[in-house]
Amino acid sequence: MTNIASPMKIVVVGHVDHGKSTLVGRILNETGALPEGKVEYLKEVCDKRGMPFEWAFVMDALQAERDQGITIDTAQIRFRTQARPYVIIDAPGHKEFLKNMITGAASAEAAVLVIDAHEGVQEQSRRHGYLLHLLGLRQIAVAVNKMDLVNFDQARFEVVKAEIVAYLNSIGVEPTYVVPVAARSGANISSKAAETPWYTGPSVLEALDRFEPAKAATDLPLRFPVQDVYKFDERRIIAGRIESGRIKVGDTLVFAPSGKSARIATIESWGGNHIAAVAAGAGQSVGVTLDEQIFVERGQVASLIESTPSLSHSVKARLFWLGREALKVGSRYKLKLATAEYAVEVTAIERVIDVEDLANHQGAEVGRNAVAEVVFRSKAPISHDSFIVNPRLGRFVLVEGYDIVGGGVIAEADAARQEHKSTNITFVDHKVNFDTRSLGNGHRGGVVWLTGLSGSGKSTIAMEVERQLFLKGWQVSVLDGDNVRHGLCSDLGFSPEDRAENIRRVGEVSHLFAQAGVLVLTAFISPYRGDRDRVRAIDPELFHEIHVATGLDECERRDPKGLYKKARAGQIPEFTGISAPYEEPIVPELSVITDGQTIEESVAEVLRYIEETFSLSAREQAVGWGL
Ligand code: ADX
Repeated sequence: MTNIASPMKIVVVGHVDHGKSTLVGRILNETGALPEGKVEYLKEVCDKRGMPFEWAFVMDALQAERDQGITIDTAQIRFRTQARPYVIIDAPGHKEFLKNMITGAASAEAAVLVIDAHEGVQEQSRRHGYLLHLLGLRQIAVAVNKMDLVNFDQARFEVVKAEIVAYLNSIGVEPTYVVPVAARSGANISSKAAETPWYTGPSVLEALDRFEPAKAATDLPLRFPVQDVYKFDERRIIAGRIESGRIKVGDTLVFAPSGKSARIATIESWGGNHIAAVAAGAGQSVGVTLDEQIFVERGQVASLIESTPSLSHSVKARLFWLGREALKVGSRYKLKLATAEYAVEVTAIERVIDVEDLANHQGAEVGRNAVAEVVFRSKAPISHDSFIVNPRLGRFVLVEGYDIVGGGVIAEADAARQEHKSTNITFVDHKVNFDTRSLGNGHRGGVVWLTGLSGSGKSTIAMEVERQLFLKGWQVSVLDGDNVRHGLCSDLGFSPEDRAENIRRVGEVSHLFAQAGVLVLTAFISPYRGDRDRVRAIDPELFHEIHVATGLDECERRDPKGLYKKARAGQIPEFTGISAPYEEPIVPELSVITDGQTIEESVAEVLRYIEETFSLSAREQAVGWGL
């Protein structure tokens, strides 16, 4: 243990009447942390006034010397044991304190919970115990205080201990040590007391010394959220800040949520002088280049395969609510986590906590300045860690419009939600592979992605191409926007986020079909280039983009479903081409200009492209069959 170790951050929670201040005063005295003469001075004052000295007065005196406004910084109290330095982050159930703790701005590594042996576990202790759950603490020493008032009776201690352990367990908290204490006389504070020969565990300070310090950010698994991708000539530089862990040239990075991986070719350190590095670690902003061109974009998180972040559509969170309007089930916000943004909906409010008195209850809404445990659902999978596992990818802010309306941390996943996690998933190899299927079918599988405005003719062309290929014996199938939106994507609308998710799902499904040897035709407007690029990235060799390039005027003239008319009348919001954008492909594999063409001509063009591209040549078949 070095002397320059950073202090272990602890919180001491418990009701003042249960002796919290006395315990802290004692700890400071026992560790020599009080200013010289302080205790003597206070004892004198007490004598003069004819009142008994209380250790809590020490705390009151220190408190009074501090600034008026309590901030988290001025509320820090330091002391040092043989083992290491400590800092106590004060926890009076104060709003600022909770805000800092819940939003992850401040965090504690361990806690002491003070309970009155005489009174036992009452509502107040339960509220303070709940705070430990809220703060996600795992290293906890419970001090059963005022043992002197119950004559250091072991039986009484065991009763209180059983009560508090049962309560804490019921809220998912596991106390590490339960120590019988008399803070007033100093029993079991720094060393074991003669009054409790039946107790074999550590004193409070010994318990603290046994706790593990939090891991340094560089020792946690790699989390490298992508901030931007810059294109320089041929090279693409992936830029971001390493939030935790380390990287070195040659490491294989896995990007969440795509699951794509590539090796680091170079590391360029950021900040002007572009010096190439061989390794970098947490806290550094770097740019990396990869040995393979895979699709990477802002918001993705790079990690190493041994320890990837959790990936799930639903996360449980503890949050501090700042919004003027109450947070309710069904409300939608933007959740920003590292460099990613997710459109989320509140699907459950499990608990609401009043920050003034720490009372908690079930509730339907969360008012300003309350703390709550809620569940969010996102249509796109959220790459995250629980705050306890890795704070760097475990905290978020909530945004409504342009305002930050809340901040919080991701809670530990419970058993039900674990199922959604995509960790520990490996690919299972098929016994019948892609080549075998191609050989059997006489053509390769693939994704022929038709994109274009509504009414451009995507579905009409796709259905006719499907019919003709089927008649020729092809394994062929169409995935069509209007149809898919009745089932697989019936939960999605037409906002940019929903369209992105629509296209993501269809992209995944169509690639599964393609790998199964099917020639898949898709007919989706898919107006955003980024969404289509992401589908291409799933397997660039299988993906063929066809732009059904019918002009807006022509689509509107055709208006087969009467939707343009409605959109013009303002009855359909975010209608592509009218009130929502359409981004044309830049270099599609094929462009079909339908204006001035018959349907048959357009169909023939697509058919020709498919047959030329996907049929197996006679030679390929001969080789394949071993002829
Ligand atoms: S996409 O943008 O997500 O690719 P998709 O192809 O699935 O859209 O669905 C488009 C179909 O939904 C259109 O052909 C039309 O029938 C219908 N639709 C309903 N509302 C809209 C809208 N606001 N914008 C575009 N299409 C809409």
